[in-house]
Amino acid sequence: MLGNFTYCNPTKLYFGEGAIKNLGGELAKYGKNVVLVYGGGSIKKNGIYDAVTAVLKERGKDVAEIAGVMPNPTLAKLYEGMEIARAHGADLILAVGGGSVCDYAKALAVSVHCEEDPWQKYYVRFEEPSCKIVPVACVLTMVGTGSEMNAGSVITNRETKQKIGHVFASEEVMPRFSVLDPTYTFTLPHYQMVAGIYDIFNHICEQYFSGEDDNTSDYIAEGLMRSVIRSGIDANKDPRDYEARSNLMWTATWALNTLIACGKATDWMVHMLGQAVGGVTDATHGMTLAAVSLAYYRHILPYGLKKFVRFAVNVWGVDPAGRTDEETAREGLAAMERWMKELGLVMNISELGVKESMLEELADVTLVMNGGYKALGREEIVEIFRESL
Ligand code: NZQ
Ligand code: ZN
Repeated sequence: MLGNFTYCNPTKLYFGEGAIKNLGGELAKYGKNVVLVYGGGSIKKNGIYDAVTAVLKERGKDVAEIAGVMPNPTLAKLYEGMEIARAHGADLILAVGGGSVCDYAKALAVSVHCEEDPWQKYYVRFEEPSCKIVPVACVLTMVGTGSEMNAGSVITNRETKQKIGHVFASEEVMPRFSVLDPTYTFTLPHYQMVAGIYDIFNHICEQYFSGEDDNTSDYIAEGLMRSVIRSGIDANKDPRDYEARSNLMWTATWALNTLIACGKATDWMVHMLGQAVGGVTDATHGMTLAAVSLAYYRHILPYGLKKFVRFAVNVWGVDPAGRTDEETAREGLAAMERWMKELGLVMNISELGVKESMLEELADVTLVMNGGYKALGREEIVEIFRESL
């Protein structure tokens, strides 16, 4: 482990069936004015809205609602919410939903008292908040992003077609507490469930495919990946398999709460390619990652060959005997591809609405990261998108 790091994660987690019983005690620690944030209505259908509002009422909270936070939450929606949260004098922002709702709540938390335009400040100049940050808490209903225990917040600007994530440095942006009840994810449509499973897996890959040193973070990453692979298969067969769904919920949290990035540079290039697709098409986040991953990993494989061999052997159980390193590495990606197809993931960007004529536009909005095995040039980006069609 050669890198230096600081690790602090202040989010308190309440995990397991019935974990909502802890909400009241936590709410008691905050002021009266709560802003309740949720999505397009799934929580009203599955009873989670009723469960949460009953506790808010019991604790005597004055609640303002921001409903209709869409997947890939937009800047326009953020501006709308800022007015509501300001007028209400928010003491706590309670997000009830998936990554979109949780990300939105964090963007709101740093914008309510911000005197500048939050898009320019946080998503263009990537500055840290200099204003008071409103505390955020989360009741999670969709598994994948890790937003329940991190300081990431992804916002989409529909006007410029940019989807940009800011991982805030301040721990104050992380949820103060998150309620993680795996049974809350049972009502997710299959498409969202498997998109979330791939999102988890790719978060781990993004932090795994970098560096040459012997690093504890990589061993943890391999264990998490093996758990996601197994639980993904089980949940795909039986979405009400509590054991599988709870494992997925837990691995998602650990996949992106900064633990496995400790002491490492990280890649994140699949996310940059996927976010470009998401910004232009508004497609589901996990599917955008699935659709570009294999073309990207096959492209960078020669530059990180040793790690791809290790991935094949330790994560996918490929037997290296009688194979060259390159054959072993490629067999690992072939095993990953079979798993992705078994889950029913979207395997190309055409299915998400991308046409060949859009590839240059996609390359224009793709941010290039340099923590992985190869910093991509523009031609390579266009090529990877072309291979992903
Ligand atoms: O809006 P509702 O009606 O609630 O429906 C949602 C939404 O349509 C539905 N859903 C959620 N829980 C449900 C449910 N439907 C039935 N039953 C339930 N229990 O699922 C749909 C997708 O929800 P969403 O929150 O958009 O999904 P996800 O959790 O994948 O979040 C995606 C967003 O998070 C960002 C993505 O870019 C995207 O904007 N990310 C955030 C990250 C972070 N904070 O660190 C990292 C990730 O890489 C990602 O970029
Ligand atoms: Zn992701």
